[in-house]
Amino acid sequence: MIDIMKMVKARTYMKRNEPFLYSWHAYVGYELDLYKAFERPMTQYDVADALSLDEQLLAQWVAVGVSIGYLKEVGRNRYQIKNRWKLPKSKGNNSSGVLLKEMMELHIPTLLEYPKMMRNKNRLHFDEEEHAATVAETSRLLEILAYPKMAARLKEKNCRRVLDIGCGEGGYIKKLAGKFPSTQFTGIEISQEVVDTAKALTKEQKNVTIEQADLWDYTPKAPQDMIMLNNVLHYIPLEKRQPLFKELASWLANEGVLSIVTPIAGGPDSTPFANVFNSFFSSFDNLYRLPKREELIEWGEESGLEFLSLRTVIKEGGWYIVQYEKKS
Ligand SMILES: C[S@@+](CC[C@H](N)C(=O)[O-])C[C@H]1O[C@@H](n2cnc3c(N)ncnc32)[C@H](O)[C@@H]1O
Repeated sequence: MIDIMKMVKARTYMKRNEPFLYSWHAYVGYELDLYKAFERPMTQYDVADALSLDEQLLAQWVAVGVSIGYLKEVGRNRYQIKNRWKLPKSKGNNSSGVLLKEMMELHIPTLLEYPKMMRNKNRLHFDEEEHAATVAETSRLLEILAYPKMAARLKEKNCRRVLDIGCGEGGYIKKLAGKFPSTQFTGIEISQEVVDTAKALTKEQKNVTIEQADLWDYTPKAPQDMIMLNNVLHYIPLEKRQPLFKELASWLANEGVLSIVTPIAGGPDSTPFANVFNSFFSSFDNLYRLPKREELIEWGEESGLEFLSLRTVIKEGGWYIVQYEKKS
Protein backbone atom coordinates (compact mmCIF):
# COMPACT_ATOMS: atom_id res chain seq x y z
CA MET A 1 0.00 0.00 0.00
CA ILE A 2 2.71 2.45 1.07
CA ASP A 3 4.75 1.59 -1.99
CA ILE A 4 1.78 2.29 -4.21
CA MET A 5 1.38 5.75 -2.63
CA LYS A 6 5.04 6.40 -3.21
CA MET A 7 4.63 5.52 -6.87
CA VAL A 8 1.52 7.65 -7.23
CA LYS A 9 3.27 10.65 -5.69
CA ALA A 10 6.38 10.21 -7.79
CA ARG A 11 4.22 9.93 -10.87
CA THR A 12 2.31 13.07 -9.94
CA TYR A 13 5.53 15.06 -9.49
CA MET A 14 6.76 13.87 -12.86
CA LYS A 15 3.49 14.73 -14.55
CA ARG A 16 3.43 18.15 -12.93
CA ASN A 17 6.93 18.77 -14.17
CA GLU A 18 6.15 17.87 -17.76
CA PRO A 19 5.40 21.48 -18.77
CA PHE A 20 8.98 22.25 -17.81
CA LEU A 21 10.10 20.31 -20.91
CA TYR A 22 8.25 22.73 -23.16
CA SER A 23 9.88 25.71 -21.47
CA TRP A 24 13.29 24.08 -21.55
CA HIS A 25 12.96 23.22 -25.22
CA ALA A 26 11.81 26.71 -26.13
CA TYR A 27 14.56 28.29 -24.03
CA VAL A 28 17.31 26.29 -25.75
CA GLY A 29 15.71 26.90 -29.13
CA TYR A 30 15.54 30.64 -28.49
CA GLU A 31 19.00 30.95 -26.99
CA LEU A 32 20.72 29.12 -29.88
CA ASP A 33 18.37 30.29 -32.63
CA LEU A 34 17.52 26.65 -33.38
CA TYR A 35 13.91 27.14 -34.44
CA LYS A 36 15.14 29.48 -37.11
CA ALA A 37 17.67 26.88 -38.20
CA PHE A 38 14.89 24.30 -38.55
CA GLU A 39 12.47 26.61 -40.32
CA ARG A 40 13.16 24.59 -43.49
CA PRO A 41 13.76 20.81 -43.40
CA MET A 42 17.30 20.26 -42.12
CA THR A 43 19.38 17.36 -40.85
CA GLN A 44 20.82 17.55 -37.36
CA TYR A 45 24.24 17.20 -38.88
CA ASP A 46 23.85 20.29 -41.06
CA VAL A 47 22.51 22.43 -38.22
CA ALA A 48 25.21 21.27 -35.79
CA ASP A 49 27.82 22.02 -38.41
CA ALA A 50 26.44 25.42 -39.40
CA LEU A 51 26.10 26.63 -35.80
CA SER A 52 29.18 24.79 -34.41
CA LEU A 53 27.16 22.81 -31.89
CA ASP A 54 27.57 19.41 -30.26
CA GLU A 55 25.70 17.10 -32.61
CA GLN A 56 24.71 14.49 -30.02
CA LEU A 57 23.21 17.07 -27.71
CA LEU A 58 21.42 18.66 -30.62
CA ALA A 59 20.00 15.23 -31.52
CA GLN A 60 18.63 14.90 -27.97
CA TRP A 61 17.06 18.31 -28.14
CA VAL A 62 15.49 17.39 -31.49
CA ALA A 63 14.14 14.13 -30.03
CA VAL A 64 12.41 15.99 -27.20
CA GLY A 65 11.11 18.54 -29.73
CA VAL A 66 9.50 15.79 -31.78
CA SER A 67 7.92 14.21 -28.70
CA ILE A 68 6.34 17.48 -27.55
CA GLY A 69 5.21 18.54 -31.02
CA TYR A 70 7.58 21.47 -31.54
CA LEU A 71 9.46 19.68 -34.32
CA LYS A 72 8.51 17.03 -36.86
CA GLU A 73 10.44 14.55 -38.91
CA VAL A 74 10.00 15.19 -42.62
CA GLY A 75 11.93 12.25 -44.12
CA ARG A 76 15.51 11.62 -45.16
CA ASN A 77 16.68 12.41 -41.59
CA ARG A 78 15.46 15.93 -41.86
CA TYR A 79 13.47 17.83 -39.26
CA GLN A 80 11.40 20.97 -39.32
CA ILE A 81 9.55 23.15 -36.83
CA LYS A 82 5.90 22.40 -36.15
CA ASN A 83 3.26 24.57 -34.48
CA ARG A 84 5.25 27.69 -35.21
CA TRP A 85 2.79 29.89 -33.30
CA LYS A 86 3.74 28.14 -30.05
CA LEU A 87 7.45 28.85 -30.44
CA PRO A 88 9.27 32.03 -29.40
CA LYS A 89 10.36 34.32 -32.20
CA SER A 90 14.09 34.61 -32.74
CA LYS A 91 16.19 37.02 -30.71
CA GLY A 92 15.88 40.77 -31.07
CA ASN A 93 12.27 40.75 -32.34
CA ASN A 94 10.69 41.74 -29.04
CA SER A 95 10.42 37.96 -28.66
CA SER A 96 8.66 36.26 -25.75
CA GLY A 97 11.83 34.13 -25.60
CA VAL A 98 13.45 36.77 -23.44
CA LEU A 99 10.97 35.90 -20.70
CA LEU A 100 12.03 32.25 -20.96
CA LYS A 101 15.63 33.34 -20.76
CA GLU A 102 15.00 35.35 -17.62
CA MET A 103 13.05 32.46 -16.05
CA MET A 104 15.63 29.84 -16.90
CA GLU A 105 18.80 31.79 -16.21
CA LEU A 106 17.66 33.90 -13.30
CA HIS A 107 14.38 32.92 -11.62
CA ILE A 108 14.68 29.15 -11.51
CA PRO A 109 18.38 28.97 -10.51
CA THR A 110 17.62 31.51 -7.76
CA LEU A 111 14.67 29.56 -6.41
CA LEU A 112 16.84 26.42 -6.35
CA GLU A 113 19.19 28.23 -3.97
CA TYR A 114 16.47 28.26 -1.29
CA PRO A 115 17.70 25.29 0.79
CA LYS A 116 21.24 26.65 0.87
CA MET A 117 20.15 30.18 1.67
CA MET A 118 17.79 29.03 4.38
CA ARG A 119 20.40 26.81 5.99
CA ASN A 120 23.14 29.42 5.87
CA LYS A 121 20.77 32.28 6.64
CA ASN A 122 22.18 34.46 3.95
CA ARG A 123 20.88 35.99 0.73
CA LEU A 124 22.24 36.39 -2.75
CA HIS A 125 23.17 39.74 -4.21
CA PHE A 126 21.37 40.87 -7.37
CA ASP A 127 23.94 41.91 -9.93
CA GLU A 128 22.12 44.79 -11.63
CA GLU A 129 24.72 45.29 -14.33
CA GLU A 130 24.61 41.62 -15.33
CA HIS A 131 20.83 41.37 -15.56
CA ALA A 132 19.76 44.94 -16.41
CA ALA A 133 19.49 44.34 -20.15
CA THR A 134 17.40 41.14 -19.93
CA VAL A 135 15.16 42.54 -17.20
CA ALA A 136 14.57 45.75 -19.14
CA GLU A 137 13.67 43.72 -22.22
CA THR A 138 11.23 41.40 -20.40
CA SER A 139 9.49 44.36 -18.78
CA ARG A 140 8.78 45.65 -22.26
CA LEU A 141 6.51 42.65 -22.90
CA LEU A 142 3.98 44.24 -20.54
CA GLU A 143 3.90 47.44 -22.52
CA ILE A 144 1.18 46.42 -24.94
CA LEU A 145 -1.20 45.82 -22.06
CA ALA A 146 -0.27 48.73 -19.79
CA TYR A 147 0.31 51.38 -22.46
CA PRO A 148 -3.35 52.18 -23.35
CA LYS A 149 -4.12 52.94 -19.70
CA MET A 150 -1.24 55.41 -19.54
CA ALA A 151 -2.08 57.02 -22.86
CA ALA A 152 -5.71 57.49 -21.84
CA ARG A 153 -4.71 59.26 -18.62
CA LEU A 154 -2.13 61.41 -20.39
CA LYS A 155 -4.75 62.55 -22.87
CA GLU A 156 -7.41 63.14 -20.24
CA LYS A 157 -5.09 65.31 -18.15
CA ASN A 158 -3.48 66.98 -21.15
CA CYS A 159 0.01 66.40 -19.67
CA ARG A 160 2.81 68.65 -20.99
CA ARG A 161 5.71 67.12 -19.06
CA VAL A 162 6.16 63.46 -18.26
CA LEU A 163 8.93 61.80 -16.26
CA ASP A 164 9.57 58.02 -16.40
CA ILE A 165 11.67 56.79 -13.47
CA GLY A 166 13.68 53.61 -14.11
CA CYS A 167 12.58 53.90 -17.73
CA GLY A 168 14.54 50.81 -18.87
CA GLU A 169 14.77 50.72 -22.65
CA GLY A 170 12.31 53.62 -22.86
CA GLY A 171 9.52 51.55 -24.43
CA TYR A 172 6.66 53.48 -22.83
CA ILE A 173 8.23 56.85 -23.53
CA LYS A 174 8.86 55.96 -27.16
CA LYS A 175 5.26 54.96 -27.79
CA LEU A 176 3.78 57.87 -25.84
CA ALA A 177 6.11 60.43 -27.44
CA GLY A 178 4.94 59.34 -30.88
CA LYS A 179 1.30 59.76 -29.93
CA PHE A 180 1.74 63.04 -27.99
CA PRO A 181 4.29 65.05 -29.99
CA SER A 182 3.81 68.28 -28.02
CA THR A 183 4.47 66.61 -24.65
CA GLN A 184 8.02 66.62 -23.30
CA PHE A 185 9.21 63.21 -22.02
CA THR A 186 12.18 62.54 -19.75
CA GLY A 187 13.38 59.07 -18.79
CA ILE A 188 15.91 58.39 -16.07
CA GLU A 189 17.67 55.05 -15.74
CA ILE A 190 20.53 53.92 -13.52
CA SER A 191 22.20 51.38 -15.83
CA GLN A 192 24.44 52.95 -18.47
CA GLU A 193 24.05 49.96 -20.80
CA VAL A 194 20.26 50.24 -20.69
CA VAL A 195 20.46 54.04 -21.10
CA ASP A 196 22.46 53.53 -24.30
CA THR A 197 19.77 51.20 -25.69
CA ALA A 198 16.98 53.62 -24.68
CA LYS A 199 18.79 56.51 -26.33
CA ALA A 200 19.31 54.55 -29.53
CA LEU A 201 15.66 53.47 -29.64
CA THR A 202 14.33 57.02 -29.15
CA LYS A 203 16.94 58.95 -31.12
CA GLU A 204 14.44 60.08 -33.79
CA GLN A 205 12.16 61.65 -31.21
CA LYS A 206 12.72 65.33 -30.52
CA ASN A 207 10.44 65.36 -27.46
CA VAL A 208 12.39 62.63 -25.57
CA THR A 209 15.38 63.01 -23.25
CA ILE A 210 17.00 60.00 -21.60
CA GLU A 211 19.40 60.58 -18.71
CA GLN A 212 21.61 58.24 -16.76
CA ALA A 213 20.66 58.96 -13.14
CA ASP A 214 19.93 57.30 -9.83
CA LEU A 215 16.45 58.31 -8.72
CA TRP A 216 17.80 58.98 -5.21
CA ASP A 217 20.13 61.72 -6.52
CA TYR A 218 17.70 63.23 -8.97
CA THR A 219 15.33 66.18 -8.90
CA PRO A 220 13.47 67.32 -12.00
CA LYS A 221 14.05 70.88 -13.16
CA ALA A 222 10.32 71.65 -13.52
CA PRO A 223 7.09 70.28 -12.01
CA GLN A 224 5.80 67.22 -13.86
CA ASP A 225 2.26 66.53 -15.07
CA MET A 226 2.80 62.80 -14.94
CA ILE A 227 5.41 60.63 -13.23
CA MET A 228 5.65 56.95 -14.16
CA LEU A 229 7.27 54.31 -11.99
CA ASN A 230 6.93 51.07 -13.88
CA ASN A 231 8.24 47.81 -12.44
CA VAL A 232 10.65 49.60 -10.14
CA LEU A 233 9.05 49.30 -6.68
CA HIS A 234 10.83 46.01 -5.91
CA TYR A 235 14.16 47.87 -6.15
CA ILE A 236 13.05 50.21 -3.35
CA PRO A 237 13.69 49.13 0.26
CA LEU A 238 10.45 48.88 2.26
CA GLU A 239 11.23 51.76 4.61
CA LYS A 240 11.99 54.05 1.70
CA ARG A 241 8.73 53.54 -0.18
CA GLN A 242 6.58 55.98 1.78
CA PRO A 243 9.28 58.72 1.68
CA LEU A 244 9.67 58.08 -2.07
CA PHE A 245 5.94 58.62 -2.65
CA LYS A 246 6.21 61.93 -0.73
CA GLU A 247 9.20 62.95 -2.81
CA LEU A 248 7.47 62.07 -6.10
CA ALA A 249 4.35 63.95 -4.98
CA SER A 250 6.55 67.02 -4.46
CA TRP A 251 7.82 66.72 -8.06
CA LEU A 252 4.27 66.77 -9.45
CA ALA A 253 2.44 69.86 -10.62
CA ASN A 254 -0.96 70.45 -9.09
CA GLU A 255 -3.38 67.84 -10.54
CA GLY A 256 -0.34 65.90 -11.78
CA VAL A 257 -0.63 62.10 -11.96
CA LEU A 258 1.55 59.41 -10.40
CA SER A 259 1.22 56.21 -12.45
CA ILE A 260 2.72 52.96 -11.16
CA VAL A 261 2.93 49.52 -12.78
CA THR A 262 3.75 46.72 -10.35
CA PRO A 263 2.78 43.21 -9.38
CA ILE A 264 0.95 43.15 -6.06
CA ALA A 265 1.28 40.33 -3.55
CA GLY A 266 0.59 39.64 0.05
CA GLY A 267 -3.16 39.06 0.12
CA PRO A 268 -4.86 35.65 0.28
CA ASP A 269 -6.12 36.29 -3.27
CA SER A 270 -2.61 36.90 -4.69
CA THR A 271 -1.85 34.70 -7.66
CA PRO A 272 0.74 31.92 -7.23
CA PHE A 273 2.96 33.82 -9.65
CA ALA A 274 2.85 37.01 -7.60
CA ASN A 275 3.77 34.96 -4.55
CA VAL A 276 6.66 33.24 -6.27
CA PHE A 277 7.90 36.63 -7.48
CA ASN A 278 8.12 37.55 -3.85
CA SER A 279 10.11 34.39 -3.12
CA PHE A 280 12.44 35.40 -5.92
CA PHE A 281 12.88 39.03 -4.83
CA SER A 282 13.37 37.96 -1.22
CA SER A 283 16.35 35.86 -2.29
CA PHE A 284 18.45 39.00 -2.80
CA ASP A 285 19.74 41.39 -0.19
CA ASN A 286 19.19 44.28 -2.62
CA LEU A 287 15.68 43.50 -3.95
CA TYR A 288 12.55 43.73 -1.85
CA ARG A 289 9.11 42.18 -1.64
CA LEU A 290 6.20 43.45 -3.69
CA PRO A 291 3.82 46.03 -2.29
CA LYS A 292 0.44 45.04 -0.87
CA ARG A 293 -2.74 46.67 -2.08
CA GLU A 294 -3.36 48.44 1.25
CA GLU A 295 0.18 49.81 1.29
CA LEU A 296 -0.25 51.38 -2.15
CA ILE A 297 -3.39 53.11 -0.98
CA GLU A 298 -1.81 54.24 2.30
CA TRP A 299 1.43 55.62 0.75
CA GLY A 300 -0.66 57.71 -1.63
CA GLU A 301 -2.92 59.07 1.12
CA GLU A 302 0.05 59.97 3.31
CA SER A 303 1.63 61.89 0.42
CA GLY A 304 -1.38 64.04 -0.40
CA LEU A 305 -2.25 62.02 -3.49
CA GLU A 306 -5.82 61.21 -4.31
CA PHE A 307 -6.36 57.63 -5.37
CA LEU A 308 -7.66 57.48 -8.94
CA SER A 309 -7.69 53.83 -9.92
CA LEU A 310 -6.17 50.38 -9.57
CA ARG A 311 -6.61 48.27 -12.69
CA THR A 312 -5.41 44.83 -13.75
CA VAL A 313 -2.67 44.56 -16.37
CA ILE A 314 -2.07 40.78 -16.25
CA LYS A 315 -4.30 38.80 -13.95
CA GLU A 316 -2.15 35.65 -13.85
CA GLY A 317 0.97 37.57 -12.87
CA GLY A 318 -0.88 39.76 -10.39
CA TRP A 319 0.20 42.88 -12.33
CA TYR A 320 -1.62 46.16 -11.80
CA ILE A 321 -1.50 49.80 -12.78
CA VAL A 322 -2.21 52.21 -9.93
CA GLN A 323 -2.80 55.91 -10.52
CA TYR A 324 -3.05 58.88 -8.16
CA GLU A 325 -3.63 62.60 -8.60
CA LYS A 326 -2.02 65.41 -6.67
CA LYS A 327 -4.49 67.72 -5.00
CA SER A 328 -3.07 70.80 -3.36
C1 LIG B 1 12.25 46.00 -14.29
S1 LIG B 1 12.98 47.35 -15.12
C2 LIG B 1 11.57 48.24 -15.72
C3 LIG B 1 11.85 49.10 -16.92
C4 LIG B 1 10.66 49.93 -17.44
N1 LIG B 1 10.22 50.91 -16.48
C5 LIG B 1 9.51 49.05 -17.84
O1 LIG B 1 8.56 48.92 -17.06
O2 LIG B 1 9.54 48.46 -18.92
C6 LIG B 1 13.50 48.36 -13.78
C7 LIG B 1 14.50 49.39 -14.19
O3 LIG B 1 14.75 50.29 -13.10
C8 LIG B 1 16.12 50.63 -13.11
N2 LIG B 1 16.47 51.14 -11.76
C9 LIG B 1 16.61 50.42 -10.63
N3 LIG B 1 16.97 51.19 -9.60
C10 LIG B 1 17.05 52.46 -10.09
C11 LIG B 1 17.39 53.72 -9.51
N4 LIG B 1 17.74 53.80 -8.22
N5 LIG B 1 17.39 54.81 -10.29
C12 LIG B 1 17.06 54.71 -11.62
N6 LIG B 1 16.74 53.55 -12.22
C13 LIG B 1 16.72 52.43 -11.47
C14 LIG B 1 16.79 49.32 -13.48
O4 LIG B 1 18.10 49.51 -13.99
C15 LIG B 1 15.83 48.77 -14.54
O5 LIG B 1 16.19 49.11 -15.86
